[in-house]
Amino acid sequence: MDITTFDVKSLIGDPSKTIQEKMVLFHQVIEEAKRRKLYLFFFFLYGPSENHILATTLETGEPRDMIMMASNNYLGLTTNDEVKSKTKAAIDRWGIGMAGPGTLNGNTTLHQEFEAKLAEFKKCDAAMLFPSGYSANVGCITALLGKDDFFIGDELNHASLIDGARYSRAQRIIFKHSDPVDLERCLREISEKPGQKLVAVDGVFSMDGEIAPLQPIVNVCKKFGVMLLVDDAHGTGAVGKLGHGSLEHCDVEGKVDIVMGTFSKAFGCYGGFIAGSKELINWLRHFARAGMFTAALAPMTVAACMGSLEVIKNHPELVQRLHENSAFLHKSLQDMKFDLGPAQTPIIPVFIRDRAKAYGIVKEAYERGLFLSLIEYPAVAPGTERIRLTAMATHTKSDLDYAIDLLGKLGRKYGVIP
Ligand SMILES: Cc1ncc(COP(=O)(O)O)c(C=O)c1O
Repeated sequence: MDITTFDVKSLIGDPSKTIQEKMVLFHQVIEEAKRRKLYLFFFFLYGPSENHILATTLETGEPRDMIMMASNNYLGLTTNDEVKSKTKAAIDRWGIGMAGPGTLNGNTTLHQEFEAKLAEFKKCDAAMLFPSGYSANVGCITALLGKDDFFIGDELNHASLIDGARYSRAQRIIFKHSDPVDLERCLREISEKPGQKLVAVDGVFSMDGEIAPLQPIVNVCKKFGVMLLVDDAHGTGAVGKLGHGSLEHCDVEGKVDIVMGTFSKAFGCYGGFIAGSKELINWLRHFARAGMFTAALAPMTVAACMGSLEVIKNHPELVQRLHENSAFLHKSLQDMKFDLGPAQTPIIPVFIRDRAKAYGIVKEAYERGLFLSLIEYPAVAPGTERIRLTAMATHTKSDLDYAIDLLGKLGRKYGVIP
């Protein structure tokens, strides 16, 4: 019943057990991990999520100050004063929610204004808000594809793209990670077949911090006349000189049919959007079930996200600081010989490839005031366990130095680096 060795994948797929038996067994695993103070998920914070947080240590149960290195709050906007005051003003003007979907109950002019600004930011004609990035991907893909169609995706795509493809019932074709040649092979194989074809990739791969080769991917899609969706959840606000995202970084702005983004990362809030042509957005408004059959974002959330967008546009120095901090963290860890895979963005995965060691390092870091995330199955394949560090513009030099020094000590103690 050791959480560091328990085979979760086999348990889920075990046909000899009922779901009730699986739940009982899994509950025992988690309870045992908690008893051994080795349960590293679903922590509770005592204050806002910033570069420093207040959270309880596992051993003492007492709150303590910790450096946050596991947040997608890339620019520190969760607590930005300008954004907070716009949010408060929106509550006074609009109340706390829409109490229903925009389809029938209506959206506010604030929603309309924000959608126009997002479209402009992404160099697209129009945009539509969704309750989350997850639902934006699921809503968009299921509105475009049906059972006689094809979904062609990178093998490391985010779960929300995979789930959208599953729910659409389209035939799923997976191409080798970030390999436009393999994408071309897949498209050639189905080129004579009837049905819609949609290619989808993460702009930034969330578990690896790697940017997709969008130039050649755009070219291959154009050559075969198929639509391309780029999930820019982690790129929006964080990647590219101006924070426009992975399309800016790859110089393909305005050349991608469908751009998805989220407000749960650099925007410091929650909610998602799809940007594209006017015709696409009109189609999604009427057929994207994950946007139609669910409540509209609350005006205060829209005001918060629009506030964040203004900060991103008006303060490119924040994005620049994020990039400087990411580069410093990356170089320091690389110099110590940590395996960082292909990371190019503020997401820096430290590959451990051993669950027991990964658990040990994350727990010890936590007890010493460094909050990290342990990434294992089902987020990544078994055997590719990693600790994911995320740089923020608001990390100070001493935050970064402390994290680098502690990781060095723990890496040597656990035999991960020489
Ligand atoms: C690549 C990617 N796509 C989509 C999402 C979903 O975004 P949201 O948190 O807004 O649902 C995430 C979030 O984890 C992500 O990393």
